[in-house]
Amino acid sequence: MVNLLHGQLVRLVAANADKDAETMARWSRDSEFGRLLDTDPIMPSSPAQSKEDIRKWMENEDPTRFGFVMRALTDDTLLGFVGIGNISWTNGTGWASIGIGAREYWGKGYGTDAMRVLLRFAFTELNLLRVALNVFEYNPRAIKSYEKAGFKIEGCSRGVLNRDGKRYDAFEMGILRDEWERDA
Ligand SMILES: CC(C)(COP(=O)(O)OP(=O)(O)OC[C@H]1O[C@@H](n2cnc3c(N)ncnc32)[C@H](O)[C@@H]1OP(=O)(O)O)[C@@H](O)C(=O)NCCC(=O)NCCS
Repeated sequence: MVNLLHGQLVRLVAANADKDAETMARWSRDSEFGRLLDTDPIMPSSPAQSKEDIRKWMENEDPTRFGFVMRALTDDTLLGFVGIGNISWTNGTGWASIGIGAREYWGKGYGTDAMRVLLRFAFTELNLLRVALNVFEYNPRAIKSYEKAGFKIEGCSRGVLNRDGKRYDAFEMGILRDEWERDA
């Protein structure tokens, strides 16, 4: 039987507060990474704070959130995180998020592979019907990766982001389970 949480390049596992905190704190100091991920101001975290955050994240009992870290299948390197949140069980919908903090791994197929694994988990394990996400217009690598995983651009929030004196759009992208089943 196929391992639901293994892809071609990565596997999704629980974060380990003791082992992963230092690396994740390093990612939090990367302002480009932070600005690709979120609209909030970047906020660096210490290893101790990251350790605490990971512990809370993994102890999370919120049934509308499922979070993983991704590790390379070849040598177990910690690459990033991926998850589904804001699940509406009534409607069968959820929001995906992903970030590869190890930037030397950007653009090498790891993110698309991790997203494909997450979608399989969302559609076959959580039985969701739709997964959506937001992405900023200045992140073409992410947009391309999501399109490769099967997402379509569904809408645009114009000028929602204000950075360095310029306004930027954010796109909403989504994928429905029947589209995923057709293309899987
Ligand atoms: C977004 C992210 C998860 C994508 O994962 P990834 O492993 O880098 O992406 P992949 O290599 O699987 O796919 C990227 C695709 O975009 C293409 N690409 C890269 N840079 C590009 C650019 N500037 N313009 C257009 N396409 C680009 C790549 O060529 C590749 O397509 P291909 O396989 O057809 O050649 C990862 O880059 C990341 O975490 N970045 C930092 C944080 C972030 O942006 N998170 C997402 C927030 S919405």
